[in-house]
Order: sequence, then C-alpha cells, then structure tokens
Amino acid sequence: MQEEKIDLNRIPTHIAMILDGNGRWAKKRMLPRTAGHRNGAFNINKVGKYCSDLGVKYLTLFCFSTENWNRPKDEVEYLMKAPTRIFKKLKKQIIENNAKWVFIGRKDRFPNDVLKIINEIEDITKDKTGIVLTICFDYGSHDEITTAVKKIAKDCVDGKLEPDNITPDVIENNLFTKGYPKLDLLIRTSGEYRISNFLLWQIAYAELYFTDVLWPDFDKNELDKAIISYQKRDRRFGGLNDNKKN
Ligand code: IPE
Ligand code: MG
Repeated sequence: MQEEKIDLNRIPTHIAMILDGNGRWAKKRMLPRTAGHRNGAFNINKVGKYCSDLGVKYLTLFCFSTENWNRPKDEVEYLMKAPTRIFKKLKKQIIENNAKWVFIGRKDRFPNDVLKIINEIEDITKDKTGIVLTICFDYGSHDEITTAVKKIAKDCVDGKLEPDNITPDVIENNLFTKGYPKLDLLIRTSGEYRISNFLLWQIAYAELYFTDVLWPDFDKNELDKAIISYQKRDRRFGGLNDNKKN
C-alpha cells in the first residue's frame, strides 16, 4: 500500500499508457521475448480493471505501433495473435464486465483472422457503459494525423468545408479519438523517456509520468503511484492558477 492516499475526487478521467518492457521482462527471467508479450497482454485486462475500480473513464493503451511491423517476423506474428489469446482466455470476463473495448489504428494491414477477432470484441462490448478500453493496434500518431488531414482536404475539395473554417475542433473531430475527453495523464513504463509517435495531438496538456517498472510488472500499486504523482501536479493549461494571479 502507498503511504500517501489517492484523492478519489480527483481521479484522471482519461489515462493513456505506452506499454513497454515486455522483452526485458522476459530476458531478466531467461525466457523468450514472447513470454513477456504473453504476460504483458494479460496485464491489459487487470490494469483496465484497476482503472475502472478507481473511476477512470477512458484508458487508452499503446499495444502495437505502425513501426512494430519492422520487428522479426516471428515476433510480429506472436503480437498479432494477442487479441485472439486475450479473447480465448478472457471471453467470459469480457462479456460479464462493463468495459467497452475499442481498437484504433490502421485496420487495413491485419490478417483476416485478426480483424475478425477485433471486430468481435468490439461488437460484443459496444453497448457497455463502463470504462472505454482503447487498444491502439497498428496505431501511429503521424498516420492518425495524416488520415485526418486527407479527410479534411477531401471535404474542402468537395465543397463541404472552407479552408478558413478549419479549426482545432475540426482536426480533433477527424482523429481516431473523436469524442474522447482530453488526455489527463500519459504513463510510460520501462524507463524510456520517449513518446514514440503516440497521441501527439492529444498529449498537448497531458501530465507525463515515466516509471522504470516493466509493463508485465505494472500493477495496482504502480498505478496508485502514478495517480498520486499526477494529483500533485499544478495543471495550469497555459494560464495561471487563481492564487498566483497577482
Ligand atoms: C512492449 O515491449 C511491447 C510492444 C512494443 C509490442 P517491448 O517488446 O518493446 O519490450 P522491450 O522494450 O524490448 O523490453
Ligand atoms: Mg520496447
């Protein structure tokens, strides 16, 4: 247990996480990298549950990036099977829990069976009213922004939109995260201090939290630490807080 307590009245609404360190977790145990990915994948549901119990409304997880295709073929194949493994093992829990699963990213490069499982998970949870658990899978922020720009450009060419009327709201409404609340807290595990092409638009005023803990070891205690750190931050959104205005 933490010595400091979480303030349950100030829980971040939207948390995002860069899940990193699966390979190092396995290496430390003299196991193949896939063992790290296996444990990492099953940790998603657990951390989703902790977040949901605390009252977090949106949890957005970076699970496979547009650049991760460059990994060795065997590893990519293993990672692509993660949704199937999760669904096979946790189907009952997924059906019974109140989390809504959403997959965002490119959906044009998956093998058919992967796409089928993703659609199935999304479909059986689409009416759930609990936490929105977003899995970023073949996701890259540059791709997301490029896709948005193409749609906006097309609307301009089609005469549906005047270039002068393109506002930040128009851009937001063309991102995969359309309608999501602003990002409050971004957590990255495994001691790397990078954003790695994740939610570049959305992190504008997010608080950033980095921990050395490897993703498969990230548990409730680590989540508590991240939220306690977040609650100590002075969020000004570019302005000044009331007591500092004079
Ligand atoms: C994160 O763990 C999982 C994915 C990016 C799919 P890594 O596979 O990056 O693990 P490390 O960084 O090699 O330890
Ligand atoms: Mg890594």
